[in-house]
Formats: sequence, C-alpha cells, structure tokens
Amino acid sequence: MKPEEQIMTFDRAMNLSRHEATELFRRHINHPLASLLKLGNVDMRFTKAEGIYLYDEEGQRYMDLTAGYGALNLGHNPKEVIKAVNEAQKLPAVLLVGHNPLMGALGKTLASILPGDLSVAIFGSGGAEAIENAMKTARASTGREKFVSCVGGYHGLSFGALSVCGSERFRMTVAPLLEHCELIPFGELKALEQTLQGKEVAAFIVEPVQGEGGAVVPPKGYLKGAADLCRKFGTLLIFDEIQTGFGRTGKMFAMEHDDVIPDIVTLSKSLGSGVVPISVSVTSEEIWMKAFGSRDRFDLIISTFAGNPAACAAALKTIEIMQRDDIPDHARALGDYARNKLQNLKTKHKLVKKIRGNGLLLGIELETAGLFSGTMEHNLSIMVMGELLHKHNILTSYYDFDPKVIRFEPPLIVTTEQIDEAVDALDKVLSRGKQAIALSFGKTAIGSMLRH
Ligand SMILES: Cc1ncc(COP(=O)(O)O)c(C=O)c1O
Repeated sequence: MKPEEQIMTFDRAMNLSRHEATELFRRHINHPLASLLKLGNVDMRFTKAEGIYLYDEEGQRYMDLTAGYGALNLGHNPKEVIKAVNEAQKLPAVLLVGHNPLMGALGKTLASILPGDLSVAIFGSGGAEAIENAMKTARASTGREKFVSCVGGYHGLSFGALSVCGSERFRMTVAPLLEHCELIPFGELKALEQTLQGKEVAAFIVEPVQGEGGAVVPPKGYLKGAADLCRKFGTLLIFDEIQTGFGRTGKMFAMEHDDVIPDIVTLSKSLGSGVVPISVSVTSEEIWMKAFGSRDRFDLIISTFAGNPAACAAALKTIEIMQRDDIPDHARALGDYARNKLQNLKTKHKLVKKIRGNGLLLGIELETAGLFSGTMEHNLSIMVMGELLHKHNILTSYYDFDPKVIRFEPPLIVTTEQIDEAVDALDKVLSRGKQAIALSFGKTAIGSMLRH
C-alpha cells in the first residue's frame, strides 16, 4: 500500500488544520465548492458549535444566521437532545425484525401535533427521501401518474424530488427524469385549476412558504384554494414542510397560518435537531392503507435505517422541548421583531429591495440592477456575506434558487439582543455601498488565494 493511501484515523481527522481540511475536501468531495468557499475566505474550520454560535480554531465566535437551512431550530448541538440520543443508544441500533418502541411512540407524537387525520408515518433519513415516500404514496393510492409542482420549489436532489424541482438548472443536468411532471407558477390558482381538471394528477407538491425560492410567502388564500381544487379533482395535496416545519414560520407548522390540512406532509431537518438525520412523510390511515395496506405492498416503504432508535430519540426530545419552551411562539415574536428592524434597513438603504418571508424564515432581497445584474446577481450576495463574516463574525448565505436574497434564518432560540447585533452589522455593511463592498471583497479574495 502506498503511504498516501493509508486510512485517516478518527483522531487525526478530528485534528486537521484548516488548510488540510480544505485540501481533502477539494480532492475527495467537491472541487468547485472548495474553490468557491476559498475565494470568499469562508472555508472556515469550525471546531465547536453551541446555541446560535460557531467557534473557529482560534476560539473566535461567529453568529450563525443559516441554522443548517432550517435544520437547527433549537440551535447547534442541543444538550438535552444529545443526552436522549446517547440514552437510546443502549437499544439495538438497527433492528429489522421486531419492534423498536421509539418508532411507534414518535408516530403517535407526530399524529398528535399534526392537524386532522395525519396519523401514519413513513420514516426516512433525509428530506428528499420523505419526498420520494410521499410521491410513492400518492401514486400507489390514487393510481394516477402525474405530479404538479411549482417554479421556485425545492424538494431535494433524488430522482423523484428532482422531477418536481422548480429549477431548470437542477433538473436538466441529470435528465431525463420522471415523466408526467408539470411545473406551474407558485401562488397562481388559475394555473393549478387548469392542470388539475383533466383528473390525471396524483399529487400537487408545494411548500407553504418557499424556502430556497427565496423565502416567498404565497398570496393570502392560496393554500386554502389549492386544497379545495385538489379535493374537487381527486388530487392529493402534499405540503413539503421540511424547511418550514417545527416553528420556523412562527407556528409549529406553516400550514397552521392558513388552517389548511394536506393529505400528506413531509418533515425533516429540525425534526432531529440536526443531531441525527431523520425524515418522515405522514398521511392519513385511509390513504396509507390504499397505498400499502396489503401483504404484497407493506414492505415497499421500508429502509434499513428508517426510524432507528437514535433518530427517533432525537425527534421525540426535540418535539418535547419545542412544546415545553413554546418555541414556535418565541419564533413568531422574534420574527416580527426582526422583520420590523429589517424593514427599517429597507427604508434606509437603496441596496435593499424587499424584505421577504415570515417568522424566522426571512430574506433580504438586494437591489442588483446595474453593476450586479443578470447572471452575476449572486456575486453581490457573496460580497455582503464575506463582509458580514470577516468584519462582524456573522455567518449567512443566500437562498439557492434566488441568489440575490440573503438568508436571515437563525436558530429559533435567538434573542432580541442577537437580532439587534445582526441587523446593526448588516446596516454597517450596506452603508458602505456596492463599490466599497466589491473592493473589500476583491481584497479578501486575493488574500485568500495567496493564503497558502
Ligand atoms: C423544502 C425542502 N424540501 C426538501 C429538502 C431536501 O432535504 P434534504 O437536503 O435533506 O434531502 C429541502 C432541503 O433544503 C427543503 O428545504
């Protein structure tokens, strides 16, 4: 065996330097992403995370406004969740014959916090897997083939999820995808009605608030209207609450703002508090039985790690804390507070075009006309991100399908003081204007390229 082919021990891996970590990522994981992170000097090597903060090798503290894109609603490494997971690890970690008691318990807990008759759970590990299970349930229970979803919608990157993805760029790279999938504009009931009336659509898949589309809240009455149309034409309504769930928009689930109950809901991200990956697709007993309720079908939705004790323990404890500490209510109050402060920034800075979103799923849409227009849009966001990180120790990002929108998505345990600090920092960065931001970004990028 050649020396460089030797395995990396766990102890060594835990002690890699920033440069070593970047190089390993570049060589073995994702070359263009490694270059992009390095260009913006955001290839940080964080060594510790707690609450809403990350810490680098030198012990410097950074506020995290990305929260794992909605996976860390209780903050980084919540101690109570970790403790529950450790306790559950006394149980058989994987058991495919017999019952894992935590799985049924989590099924019951989900049924009791979800509205209506959403009561039967199909577990998985990642968000896209929950989407696959929801799509399978829809086809198997309706006998129909077609799916409808929205432009700007994001549902993950497996084949089924990509087939209903609202971005041309993401879909085309691995085409052909599933046949019989149609995209319609988000928020337009007329378009939905037109596509449903042929009565061939198994399901309409939609986020109650678009996340990666750039924190887009649909017009009032849209979700209710969509539910009515789906019922009228025999189409199932799937709400993808993978990013909006667990308090993110100021209610336990975003669908509660409009009092609309879907036929299937998909959840993941903060379900396991980011401590253990877990996802779930939940539907009614009636729909589940139609889809899988026979001896020749019950095993079509089983997966080795689905609903394992560690994942279920993380989810059970997360939900317990969410309820006990009234996290959704806190998110609503702090979301309103943050939104007001951000609106003031809009009044003050021409560079801010619009404040989007609700609860703590917020976005700052930048004015990219002129210098940063067209395909270069995301460059301005990257520059603002760079300034926030290096001058103010604040980590943020942009929304994937609308890069001119800066993410303001902190863990829901954030305080008013921390929001003040983040908005003040944004204020300072925006006050410098486009040219000055671009100039200091250029310096950072050159410095970063010369670093090693
Ligand atoms: C709304 C929504 N659905 C699905 C997914 C996919 O989840 P995962 O990345 O865990 O596959 C995401 C991820 O960001 C999401 O935001």
